[in-house]
Amino acid sequence: MSKRRYVVAVTGTTGVELGIRLIAALLEVSEVYAVFSSASIPIVSDELSINLKGGLKAALSAFFKERYNIGFQEDDLTIFNNDNLWAPVSSGSFRTDGMFIVPCSMKTLSAVANGYAEGLIERAADVTIKEGRPLVISPRETPFSAIHLENMLKLARIGVRIVPPVFGAYHGRRDIDGMVDFIVGKLLDQMGIENNLYARWKGKV
Ligand SMILES: Cc1cc2nc3c(=O)[nH]c(=O)nc-3n(C[C@H](O)[C@H](O)[C@H](O)COP(=O)(O)O)c2cc1C
Repeated sequence: MSKRRYVVAVTGTTGVELGIRLIAALLEVSEVYAVFSSASIPIVSDELSINLKGGLKAALSAFFKERYNIGFQEDDLTIFNNDNLWAPVSSGSFRTDGMFIVPCSMKTLSAVANGYAEGLIERAADVTIKEGRPLVISPRETPFSAIHLENMLKLARIGVRIVPPVFGAYHGRRDIDGMVDFIVGKLLDQMGIENNLYARWKGKV
């Protein structure tokens, strides 16, 4: 049987490590087709102190190894520019098991909610929705305006899973890496992907 295949879009918000950690976790179990918006790339470089001169894939490969001790098969990660509408994930005929937009800017949220498929990210999301495949979105903004909330509601009503990066404290880790793992674990849960990224609540008497 062939490997599972997920699309991951990373957009230009603070907290881009969520998308990077998600890609690393997915590469342990699947192929990943990643799309980085043009706004996200300088933020990846700035927030994670990643030098992108040798290219995004090489930089991510080194970062995954150093930070998460995760290696992967080169062929399992394909990265596209957001303006590449000729990429396979632009078509519903290219089969995937679902898509994540993590983190998701309010701009991309609006485009997806309104079917405005100008770039590859919005097009792949549009395709994921029309093909009835799972779409998991992690909108990053605070506070949310009524416009943001209406866009989320519109998507939630058609089955898109809205999983904002919200703090939790029951999973036993109190540092930022623990919070990132907790949120990425919750994102994977929504896609039905087994993971042990956070300690689950077992009840208390
Ligand atoms: C450092 C930085 C942080 C940003 N953080 C956010 C954010 O948390 N949420 C958001 O919706 N937009 C944020 N923005 C604005 C988006 O990057 C901007 O709206 C952009 O057009 C989004 O494009 P994209 O969705 O194609 O990545 C941020 C911009 C910068 C430069």
